[in-house]
Amino acid sequence: MKKNLTILAAAATALFTSCGSNSPDLYKDSSQPTEARVESLLSQMTLEEKLGQLNLLVLGRNNNINNIESGEKNAFSPLTGGYIYFSESAEMANEVQKRTIEESRLGIPLILGMDVIHGYKTIFPIPLAQACTWSPEMVTEASKVAAKESRLSGLRWTYSPMVDVARDARWGRVSEGYGEDPHTNAVFGVATVKGYQGENLNDEYSIAACLKHYAGYAYSQGGRDYRATEISPVALWETVLPPFHACVEAGAATIMSSFNDVNGIPATANEYLIQDVLKERWGFDGFVVSDWSSVRQLINQRYAVDTLDAGVKSIIGGTDMDMYDGIYLKYFEEALADNKLTMNYIDEAVRRVLRIKFELGLFENPYAEVVEDSLRYLLPESLELAEEVAANSMVLLKNEANTLPLTGKKNILLVGAMANNAENLLGNWHCNGAEEDVVTILEGLKSEFGNSSKINYLEGADFESNNSGVISRLRSAANSSDVIVLALGEMNHWSGENGTRSTLSLPSAQEALVEAAHKTGKPVVLLLTSGRPLELCRIEPMADAILQVWQPGTMGGSAVSSILSGRRNPSGKLSITFPYSTGQIPIYYNQRANARNGNQGDYQDIPVTPMYTFGYGLSYSTFEYSDITLSKNEASKTEKITATITVKNNSTTDGVETIFWMIDDPVATITQPSLKMKHFEKAAIKAGESKEFTFEIDPSRDLSFVDGTGETHLESGEFRIVVGDKIAKLSLK
Ligand code: BGC
Repeated sequence: MKKNLTILAAAATALFTSCGSNSPDLYKDSSQPTEARVESLLSQMTLEEKLGQLNLLVLGRNNNINNIESGEKNAFSPLTGGYIYFSESAEMANEVQKRTIEESRLGIPLILGMDVIHGYKTIFPIPLAQACTWSPEMVTEASKVAAKESRLSGLRWTYSPMVDVARDARWGRVSEGYGEDPHTNAVFGVATVKGYQGENLNDEYSIAACLKHYAGYAYSQGGRDYRATEISPVALWETVLPPFHACVEAGAATIMSSFNDVNGIPATANEYLIQDVLKERWGFDGFVVSDWSSVRQLINQRYAVDTLDAGVKSIIGGTDMDMYDGIYLKYFEEALADNKLTMNYIDEAVRRVLRIKFELGLFENPYAEVVEDSLRYLLPESLELAEEVAANSMVLLKNEANTLPLTGKKNILLVGAMANNAENLLGNWHCNGAEEDVVTILEGLKSEFGNSSKINYLEGADFESNNSGVISRLRSAANSSDVIVLALGEMNHWSGENGTRSTLSLPSAQEALVEAAHKTGKPVVLLLTSGRPLELCRIEPMADAILQVWQPGTMGGSAVSSILSGRRNPSGKLSITFPYSTGQIPIYYNQRANARNGNQGDYQDIPVTPMYTFGYGLSYSTFEYSDITLSKNEASKTEKITATITVKNNSTTDGVETIFWMIDDPVATITQPSLKMKHFEKAAIKAGESKEFTFEIDPSRDLSFVDGTGETHLESGEFRIVVGDKIAKLSLK
């Protein structure tokens, strides 16, 4: 939602007066422009009706264990603006909608929302994994499936995408975003918004997106959820804000303010971030919803003295809708009477909420279509897509001596807590995804290999407790096996909200399985299910092959199996760095340079290089990169330059490669990260064939940098264009 607000407001006023219309029913007329409808309706609303629109409550059983609520707060009132809706029942959604419209004086429809993060019923991989596909197109398609299943369950709004650039994987919510790089978060955030919102918010299966968490939440100190953040102005503009800006430009309808204190001012009451940057500078005209109870939490954060103060500071800061607390509803009459608040803040917030309700077509089409489950959920084409996205998101981290694919392996020994586990393949925030719909790794392998290989599954391995029983059975079963596949990983709740961990390593009970498997002398394949990068320094040397599976969703087991059998060639690449060990955090590819050369400043006890860096990922094919050629090696600031590289698949297996175009700006008046990714492209390359990749460099977009006020600067000088270990030099005059 981004428009020129001044022009819109003027046009609306003109129309409102010229069409006549004092008619109180103008807002019901869909042929009128949205702004005229908003003003017409707003002018007829009482204070209570206005405050009702700013109130978001909960309907149904809340499945977010971090959000504790009292039922009484959520009693039905026809004035309530919206609910977080935790039911699959479209009928019930329609009933509540009907009551709201019929029992309220002006018949303003509700907006029902939910955390549809990586699918509604058909569950796709977690967002961190989606980014590893490097296919925004695929992610748009997955988001469309999520939107359609949501619409057919009564929803018009999802609290997604999360575009918090996250560089500390101890923070459990690293799973919910697109990794460590701002450009990646921007591209996949936009792809997701497009999938949810379609061409128009009022299309048959569109739902409103909600960017979150605005802003800087991923900077929580020590990776601990809800903690305060200290973010330098340059980091804010260079790293935190770009994905939000890109998604606002792409038309995201709503934004959620974040829990964290940002440099002394909590985000929910942060006038600079919300009023000045988001609404004024970027022209965002949708609404901002608080996070769960983040208005009241201003008291905990020592920014507000009491609830009234917290409410006033939040709405003045720019947070339009109050999630769960009902503080705006309860206290704003008093705040107005005491001159602590003026009506224009309330009107502006209501205007924004109504605007989105009109744009969603809720006034004309408030009800959900009711269809049977087989027509709304888990459609064959959705499951096919879920398998495709999952397979594309998996990253082959190691493959010594071509251990994978498992061709000719007649006896496959499968062990590990994740081997036949459905729930933890779904991942955190799996919405209404159900275990019974999941293909487990065991099921996937059995159907993939059929009679060609025997899958011998050893039951009983645990995530955390002693695995010695399984280990002794593994030792004897290994004798008759050609390969040992260990399905290890994290449980759902180890990542996601409040999923903070002090170490990224797997529990010792799981590491012990790897050691035991390695000692048998048979080839060992690790399948790692997780919501974050893991610390692999102890187990990596004991594995012959490692496939990072992430939390792949409903079709996870089929996707894994297709890679193990060789039916699919892995092509995922990391959207986040895997540190050597947790002590390396923060570690990400685009850090600034060191003051001293050589090994000064290195750790004394561990390496300084990561285990696997951003963009890393193997394939069953091998690729050879040519040198980079530039259309010109010297250019003016206004000239575009075309960079080209040719990639040859020099193997006998058809494959898919992703090219990452990085810019290195060695000297600038604000020092720049040693590499900044500006563009990526993924393409299939058949065995023996080559493909040319190009990147059109626009200096003002790709060679500039931003300062701590958000101004961009383009400076003359030398630049390097980098793809892998290939470098071309460019001089900008
Ligand atoms: C989370 C949000 C989520 C909201 C509603 C909060 O606890 O931080 O991301 O959208 O709950 O479930």
